[in-house]
Amino acid sequence: MTSAPRNVPASAVSAAAGPATNAATTGKSAGRAARNTGYKCSECGWQAVKWVGRCGECQQWGTLLEVGAATAAMPAAGPVTAAAVPIGEIDASAATALPTGNPEFDRVLGGGLVPGSVTLLAGEPGIGKSTLLISALASCAGNGATVLYITGEESAAQVRMRAERVGALHPALYLAAESDLGAVLSHIDAVAPDVLVVDSIQTLSHPLVDGAAGGVNHVREVAAALTRVAKTRGLACLLVGHVTKDGAIAGPRVLEHLVDVVLHIEGDRHTRLRLLRAVKNRFGAADEVGCFEMGDDGMWAVADPHGLFVSRLPEPVAGTCVTVALEGRRPLLVEVQALVAAAASSVPRRATQGVDSARIAMLLAVLERRVGARLADREVYVSTVGGVRLTEPASDLAVALAVASASWQQPLPPGTVAVGEVGLAGEIRNVVGAQKRLAEAARLGMRRAIVPAGTSAATAAADTGLVVVQASDVRDALAAVRTAD
Ligand code: TYD
Ligand code: MG
Repeated sequence: MTSAPRNVPASAVSAAAGPATNAATTGKSAGRAARNTGYKCSECGWQAVKWVGRCGECQQWGTLLEVGAATAAMPAAGPVTAAAVPIGEIDASAATALPTGNPEFDRVLGGGLVPGSVTLLAGEPGIGKSTLLISALASCAGNGATVLYITGEESAAQVRMRAERVGALHPALYLAAESDLGAVLSHIDAVAPDVLVVDSIQTLSHPLVDGAAGGVNHVREVAAALTRVAKTRGLACLLVGHVTKDGAIAGPRVLEHLVDVVLHIEGDRHTRLRLLRAVKNRFGAADEVGCFEMGDDGMWAVADPHGLFVSRLPEPVAGTCVTVALEGRRPLLVEVQALVAAAASSVPRRATQGVDSARIAMLLAVLERRVGARLADREVYVSTVGGVRLTEPASDLAVALAVASASWQQPLPPGTVAVGEVGLAGEIRNVVGAQKRLAEAARLGMRRAIVPAGTSAATAAADTGLVVVQASDVRDALAAVRTAD
């Protein structure tokens, strides 16, 4: 927190106090601060003496709110909701998670929906938020919970049609199309649900707040009101939120602080895979990932998703290598494909999909300089299978092997999996979760794993029938796959 004297601009202090002593300066400025209320951005905390329409720091419109009055006086002691008791005497049964019945959704939530909690499900428009919720909540209703679904974006008839298509018609699933918070509160009173869904928070307007629904103030106030209702009635509340192009949840940041769980749903719109990621979770692991497949009849949990990211080619093909990516805490087998072709112009093309292009440029330079691969005058294409994004450096070695294999036009030995971060000197660095990755590779029938030298899990994995080859640099790794049978 900024202390009171600092609210006064430095220029004002020196102008008022001149060359006076420190004690005099502090006394005068403190007196001023108590009278001066000032304005603060609700998004980023930027402060201004006068009100302005746009925040000077985060450039958001209409986020400046008056502050200062609240800090001026000490509030009087007031009534309490419940007396403080020793922590061991608090009844925790009221906060036991209610499983939704959808295994992947429950896994990400950390067991299920906790009564009294607020969960924010964020994702781009059209990614499948409503589809996921309607089917997860129908199964939740099937478990005995009463669910109230408030739709502000689609009409009730549209949601019913979708629910019918995905097989989510259940008598305990109530539906209402509303865009006013007051009306939603009346529905809550009438239905008394265990689970409330608001699709989406941006379409609800607060009767006491000025401006259009979806604005910063509306979103914050509606979320705050629903949070209070959730806590007092002990109902699990799910809010759907749209994200902007750059991935931020539209509306104020405070929304993320206000809620207990933040889930992001991601995926490439052109593929069927959707990943549900817990970004914040007060009731479970914050790095859990759930896999779903978008079909014609809804969004279905994929318990064993490895088949989605690995092509099933009848014959080994040059330029492909499998790696084990760790998505949150879950190991996923992912295939990297590379193609090296003669350049059609003096500036050879490099195109990537699912992998960072700057990282690929670095790996190509390492292959060129440390191994002597001829790539500078050839076109290089690198892609993942199934639209998955590889963000970890642990996939470097698989990319390097795929590119090398493409440039030799020689397939890697079948069943090869590679894990390791490649440094600029061509060295292979250790990765986190090696044990988990190797266990998954062995479980899925991979035969040979190329791992960084000194991987402690290497010996343990050898028992599973997986041949583990430790390589200290890219040259070693390439030699290992070339000499293999
Ligand atoms: P939707 O759940 O409406 O997205 P959101 O609520 O995140 O905006 O999903 C819309 C997309 O999903 C739309 O492009 C159609 C597709 N879809 C399917 O592929 N299968 C289905 O069973 C359903 C209901 C939708
Ligand atoms: Mg929707």
